[in-house]
Formats: sequence, structure tokens, C-alpha cells
Amino acid sequence: MAQTTELVKVVVVGGSFAGVAVIQTLLSSIKSGHKNIQIILIEKRDARHHPIGAFRALVDAEYAKRVWIPYTNLFPKDSHHKIIQDTVTQVYHDHVVLASGQSVPFNYIALCTGSSNPAPAKFTADSSKESIAITDKAREDLKKAKSAVVVGGGACGVELAGEIKSAFPDKKVTLIHSSQTLVDYPGYSPVLKSGALTHLRDLGVDVVLGFRAEIEGLTFQNSIQSAPRTIVTPSGTTIESDIQFLSVGISVDTSYISTLKPATNPTFDSSTLIHADNHQIKVQKTLQVIGFDNIFAAGDCADYSKVPTAAASGVIAPTIAKNIIALVEAKKKNKTAKLSNPGWYPSVMLLATGPETGVIAMPLIGTRFSNSISKALKSKDLMVGMTNASMNWK
Ligand SMILES: Cc1cc2nc3c(=O)[nH]c(=O)nc-3n(C[C@H](O)[C@H](O)[C@H](O)COP(=O)(O)OP(=O)(O)OC[C@H]3O[C@@H](n4cnc5c(N)ncnc54)[C@H](O)[C@@H]3O)c2cc1C
Ligand SMILES: *[C@@H]1O[C@H](CO)[C@@H](O)[C@H](O)[C@H]1NC(C)=O
Ligand SMILES: *[C@@H]1O[C@H](CO)[C@@H](O)[C@H](O)[C@H]1NC(C)=O
Repeated sequence: MAQTTELVKVVVVGGSFAGVAVIQTLLSSIKSGHKNIQIILIEKRDARHHPIGAFRALVDAEYAKRVWIPYTNLFPKDSHHKIIQDTVTQVYHDHVVLASGQSVPFNYIALCTGSSNPAPAKFTADSSKESIAITDKAREDLKKAKSAVVVGGGACGVELAGEIKSAFPDKKVTLIHSSQTLVDYPGYSPVLKSGALTHLRDLGVDVVLGFRAEIEGLTFQNSIQSAPRTIVTPSGTTIESDIQFLSVGISVDTSYISTLKPATNPTFDSSTLIHADNHQIKVQKTLQVIGFDNIFAAGDCADYSKVPTAAASGVIAPTIAKNIIALVEAKKKNKTAKLSNPGWYPSVMLLATGPETGVIAMPLIGTRFSNSISKALKSKDLMVGMTNASMNWK
């Protein structure tokens, strides 16, 4: 007689690099026998945004059509997996509550809600149409502008300034950064940092270092401003611009976790689950949220990687799927599960500054590679083809 197998519900919150990596790994386990698993993706957007291509989309209307990818093909046709388009507002130990009020039960959950950057890198709107309109409007304003200022010299600011200058070589582009070093992240080669500066200056971008610029009207909420502005640097240089972009501040919203308590401990203090300063969820090496066997987190919303990147998410997040399968199997056999930790991944960073150019450096080797390698690995299409393929468009 066939054994009756109970359906195991796995909820994945957020369908981007981390969430889709969890889903793809689960799908391949299901193919090879774990048929009693049902995946439920809860994603607030109507399509997947590919943020790595966001600045190319700003300057290139044709390319812009590729950075919003429908979820239609993610699950095999006629499968019992589901996509719910809604926002998770509360997480409990065995269910989540959505903005619509709906409650969704789970056996296991992967929290992959990522992070936000100011537009046009990422968007607060849940509708792709609204977000596309913001990019289109900025492109029109940018075309009319004679000069642009980008505030913030992290990876985003460097790429944004580079894309603008590459697409519009005749415009004056100024990148302003508060400290003396661009892309100053822990664990990355100094060659990347100095290379980024040389590279932008070679492109013709004016780079101003050591200046914390305050520009009237330019804020995280209003991060693209089309207005004439004049600022004066500490050394007395006047910078005029017709359009400004704020490219500082990555933010993580994990407020949904404030309802999470172990079933047996009603006085549990949920604020201990996240870091007070950056709101990232604290996870163990198994990617389990501390104190919860069935709740996992990965990607930009979790504290596993020092510098959260899509590349790191893609390497780390599949471990969530492997560990969920291990727990499901162990439970069936009434055994203790052997859980794994994600493998090592290199802190490689590749900064694309236009379709033809970029700078790449390895953490240990330190070598600054050429434009041709950057072009082949990233700059040409900014990996949008890879993201499209990961969504099962073939
Ligand atoms: C301009 C730019 C260029 C970049 N270039 C690179 C690069 O070259 N290489 C690299 O490795 N990294 C790059 N990054 C970083 C990379 O984009 C992030 O590390 C990556 O997006 C993180 O993926 P994630 O899956 O953790 O979350 P995100 O991509 O932030 O996605 C989170 C998803 O969760 C959804 N969501 C959030 N909250 C909820 C909720 N409460 N309920 C339901 N759904 C929710 C969101 O709608 C979104 O779809 C770049 C970032 C930017 C902005
Ligand atoms: C994704 O790839 C498929 C197949 O190449 C293509 O038809 C589709 O237009 C692509 N989607 C986007 C949003 O670019
Ligand atoms: C599962 O294992 C535990 C300890 O190893 C044992 O006490 C328990 O009876 C087992 N349960 C079942 C259903 O076999």
C-alpha cells in the first residue's frame, strides 16, 4: 500500500536573486523525488526587477525593456506550486500575514526580502509600470540636461556616473563622494578602489572626494532631481548641474519579524532577531534564524555576508533549500538532520561603467583587469540574460 505523504509547505518571501536561487534548488530536488513539497512564492511585485541593469536602463530605452521579467515561467505548468502577489507584513512561527489580511501557513520559510537603494537603482513602487515610468522620465530629463551630479561613490554611484558619461560623452558628469576612497568596502582589493577612480577620470568624469554634498531637494525619497542647482566644494570650486542623483544609503526593511516568537515562549523579545543599526536578520551558519529550526534567511536582508551582493546570494541561498530538504528527510526517518553551511565565495567585484568598459579586481590577486574582460563578464548586458534564464525563459 502506498504511504500517505503529508504535503510540506515551503514559503519563499521575495523572488529575486536569493529567493529564486532557493526555488530553483528546491525544484531540482523535487524533480529527483521529493514530490511532497509545495513551494509558495510571496512577492510584492508584478515582475522581477534586475537591479544590476538599472543604470543601463536609465540611459538606454531599448535595454530598459529587458530589466523587468515576468514570473510566468518560474514554476512548471500544471505544478501545485503557487505565486502570491502580496507583501508579507507579519511573520509567526508557522504562518505569515499579508498586507491583504490573508494568512499563509508554512512548515518552512525562506526570508529573502533584500534591500532598497534610491531610484533609479531600485524602486519603492510595487508596480513595474510605475517604476518603468520613473526611469523613462529620468531618461528624458537626463537627455535635456547639460550637466549631471551623482552624490555617493559606492559601487552604485561609480556605475551610475560611468553609464551616464559613456552614453552622453558631451555632458559634464561629476561624482561627489564624502570620503577619500571610492567603493570602500571591507574585504575588497585596494586596486579596485584606486582603479575605479583612475577609470572614471579616464572616462572624463569629474570626481570630487572628501566632500559631503548637501543638495537642496535631493533626498532618499526624491533621489532623482531635475532642477538647476549650484554647490561649492570646500576647496572653492563651483559645480552647476541640471540634474542630480542621490546614490547613497542602502536600507533593509525586516519589520515583519517583530511578531516572530517561538511557540513556547510568549515573552520572547523579537528585536533580538535583527541588528538594530542595519535591520539585517541574524542567521546561523546554517542560515537558520537564531532560535528557529524552520525559519531561514539569505540575501541582502540577512547578516551572512559582509558585503551583500547578488553573486553572494546566488552561492549562499541554495543552502536554504538543501537544509530544508535535509530537515524534511530527517523528519520522515525520525532522525536528526545533518545541516550544511554555504561554501566559500570570493569577494569579486566588477564595476561596469558603460557597455564597453569596466574595472574588476580580485580580493587576493588584486589585479585590475582590462575593459575587454569586464565587457565579456558583465558590462555588455549586465547579466540580464542570466537573470532571465534563471526565471526559466528559454
Ligand atoms: C545598481 C546596482 C548594481 C548592482 N550590481 C551588482 C553586481 O554587479 N553584482 C552583484 O553581485 N551585485 C550587484 N548589486 C547588488 C544586488 O543587486 C543585490 O545584492 C541583490 O539584489 C540582492 O538580492 P536579494 O535577492 O537579496 O534581494 P533583492 O534583489 O533586494 O530583492 C528582494 C525581493 O523581495 C521582494 N520583497 C521585499 N520585501 C517584501 C515583502 N515584505 N513581501 C513580499 N516581497 C517582498 C522585493 O519586491 C524584491 O523582489 C547591484 C545593486 C544595484 C542597486
Ligand atoms: C527573456 O528571454 C526570452 C527568450 O530569449 C525572450 O523572449 C524575452 O523577451 C526575455 N524577457 C525579457 C523581459 O527580456
Ligand atoms: C523517534 O525517535 C525517538 C528517539 O530516537 C523515539 O523516542 C521515538 O519514539 C521515535 N518516534 C517514532 C514515531 O518512531
